[in-house]
Amino acid sequence: MSLEKQNIRTLIPYTTQEIPYKIKLDANEGKNIYFPNGIDLSTLAFHLYPDNQSLRLRQKLSSYLEVPMSWIVEGNGSSELIELLIKTYVEPNEQILTFEPTFSMYKVYAQLYGVQYQSIPSNPDFSVDMKKIILASKNPSIKLIFLCSPNNPTGYVIPRSEILDLLSSTQAIVVVDEAYIEFSDLSESVLGDIKNYPNLAILRTFSKAFGLASIRLGYLVAQEGITASISKVKSPYHVNALTQAVGVMALSNIDIMKEFVSTVIDNRLRLQSELQILGITTYPANGNFIWIQSDIPNLYIQLIDKGILIRAYSAPWNGYYRITVGTNLENNALLQALKEIIYG
Ligand SMILES: Cc1ncc(COP(=O)(O)O)c(C=O)c1O
Repeated sequence: MSLEKQNIRTLIPYTTQEIPYKIKLDANEGKNIYFPNGIDLSTLAFHLYPDNQSLRLRQKLSSYLEVPMSWIVEGNGSSELIELLIKTYVEPNEQILTFEPTFSMYKVYAQLYGVQYQSIPSNPDFSVDMKKIILASKNPSIKLIFLCSPNNPTGYVIPRSEILDLLSSTQAIVVVDEAYIEFSDLSESVLGDIKNYPNLAILRTFSKAFGLASIRLGYLVAQEGITASISKVKSPYHVNALTQAVGVMALSNIDIMKEFVSTVIDNRLRLQSELQILGITTYPANGNFIWIQSDIPNLYIQLIDKGILIRAYSAPWNGYYRITVGTNLENNALLQALKEIIYG
């Protein structure tokens, strides 16, 4: 008999694709923009525990974001912060509210903590039905609302005005996951609204625009009511010294990230129009990826056979795919492979 807790028994572990590939366009990673020549960490005190408050990192973040340091909590990837939010705020008989399709980890952590998970279907064009979310949010058992914007995998950006409508009409904490905001219209970010809403939290990550997925670094921004609660729950030394040091180095040269973002946006535009020319349906893209629909049979497998990994989705989103925007070379290889598949 399994000794696992009931809610863990049916949990499917987060798995990544272990498929041989030449070009990897499946995980929305960035490129090695910061340390193409390696990194000197010789001054790091490897024998000591890291700074438990990540002070230097949070100072740097505070000046980059123009918010007080006390509004920032660092995380071992923003994934850890999603977990800490649920751990801190949601009892087993209470609920998380979100929409679908969206980032899969909200549901995984909900199950892990045995809390209820409610997701409102998106409209047929993948815009978010905010009226329905506002209506559902009136239920007092809803403690956290996750809004991923730009949304992974659809790319949809929820208009800031709609997020503010929700914030004004709910007691729940609204978590806006801005993992891809750097690639989007920054005027839709709700960062500037934190001062007005004690129930607003923002999640961001170094895994995408900064091209630093390997170091596992994310952060949460919210007023002190939320950051103080999350800080009670986090494990000691949860963000290691190497990660903190690399994060500080990256934040000392923000222009590298900005230049990369503008290249991705240029490449995204071109890739999108080339995909359309091939008869593939594309949706408005606002991250470092494009959400597409195609009836080409076995497209995912056919691309794997050519050494190209993209992300496929299961029912009810059969025929939908998420493609990370690559370099021009990578995108050209993808387009060439698609031409061979389509035209033989
Ligand atoms: C929307 C969204 N949020 C959070 C994450 C997790 O990012 P991290 O690498 O910081 O854990 C991802 C990763 O793909 C994501 O797409």
